[in-house]
Amino acid sequence: MTGLYIHVPLCVARCRYCDFYKVTPDELPDIGLFLECLDIELGRLPQGFAPETVFIGGGTPTALDPGNFAALLASIRRHIDLSKVVEFSSEANPGTLTPEKLEAMRVGGINRVSIGVQSFNDRALRLLGRIHDADTAIEGFRMLRDAGFDNVNLDLIQSIPGMTPSEVLDDARRAAQLGPEHISYYNLIYEPGTALTRERDSGNVVPPGDDEEADNYFAVKAVLEDAGYDHYEISNFSRAGKPCLHNTLYWQGGEYFGCGPSAHSHWNRARFGNLPDLAEYCDRMRSGERPFDEIETLSPEEKARETLVMWLRMTQGVDLEAFRAISGFAADELCGPAIDSMLEEGLLVRDGVRLSLAPDALFVSNAVLSELI
Ligand SMILES: C[S@@+](CC[C@H](N)C(=O)[O-])C[C@H]1O[C@@H](n2cnc3c(N)ncnc32)[C@H](O)[C@@H]1O
Ligand code: SF4
Repeated sequence: MTGLYIHVPLCVARCRYCDFYKVTPDELPDIGLFLECLDIELGRLPQGFAPETVFIGGGTPTALDPGNFAALLASIRRHIDLSKVVEFSSEANPGTLTPEKLEAMRVGGINRVSIGVQSFNDRALRLLGRIHDADTAIEGFRMLRDAGFDNVNLDLIQSIPGMTPSEVLDDARRAAQLGPEHISYYNLIYEPGTALTRERDSGNVVPPGDDEEADNYFAVKAVLEDAGYDHYEISNFSRAGKPCLHNTLYWQGGEYFGCGPSAHSHWNRARFGNLPDLAEYCDRMRSGERPFDEIETLSPEEKARETLVMWLRMTQGVDLEAFRAISGFAADELCGPAIDSMLEEGLLVRDGVRLSLAPDALFVSNAVLSELI
């Protein structure tokens, strides 16, 4: 499977926790220039590239007005063979939705929308610096349904400072009650350089302790599983048959091109990332230069190791025979001693040809998986 990612580097305002690359409307006098340069980059992708998944992310794609969104979709269609596309997603911020915009998205081929709710608690939303409140998020979800979208993801964040355990549970229940096909439930990350991290460092914001975060994680998981969601990846839940194909492609070592400033690509074991700078990106596109500085080429073994670690994020684990067929390596050959000691410590579980994270290790997965790299 192959994928295409498009990064729209525009947000109405900067959320206080987020370090994704974006500019705000006052910093971007001409969105047309970005669309023109993206069109150039799409036109340079290899002939015959026919992805199964397309994901428009950001930033906030829905910060574009309906005309510009339609122009972006037309540009993708002009350059990319979409005949094999199964899943065509766009991210959306609830504070930016209108029926006209959603119509432009649906008509243009989008069949899955991921909406950034983060929390149903208005105090938490203010702390995060979101541009919307809980009612607007619920209204946004209803607008998506009214526009005919039957494959919707909600993004939520848990362990937001100041939320009590019962408020966390309330968020999970309200997400499940809305009944989306998919829920991504991220633990809040304190990214370097963000406003929230500065406030934590100065003591104005106090995160919950590790034990409380772990309790939240397992409590949210229980609520969503009781409501019929399958916990299929560390931070992701879906209704039967509705996992996110685009992210599954990342987790199973699939190849993809990323277009737009800061977008990453992984193709033929080569990895490269576009510069996170819109002006530089546009200059390079217009002068025929490539929008990235370095290409890192992974050896077959490095690529296999990376795939193993990413694939282990999926709760079903890795089918070791499928992994060998795809990567050309047996998992034991890559990191046998580390796997053996983690099996002994109970961090990994082996069931026939399946190797997976132990349920208790899901919350500490980053530490566990980094041992295998
Ligand atoms: C590009 S945004 C989604 C679309 C839109 N920009 C919005 O925020 O509504 C991607 C998602 O990443 C998550 N995210 C971003 N920064 C995060 C952080 N520091 N910790 C946890 N989740 C984060 C948020 O849940 C957010 O919805
Ligand atoms: S979370 Fe979404 S809306 Fe907020 S700054 Fe990040 S990309 Fe923009």
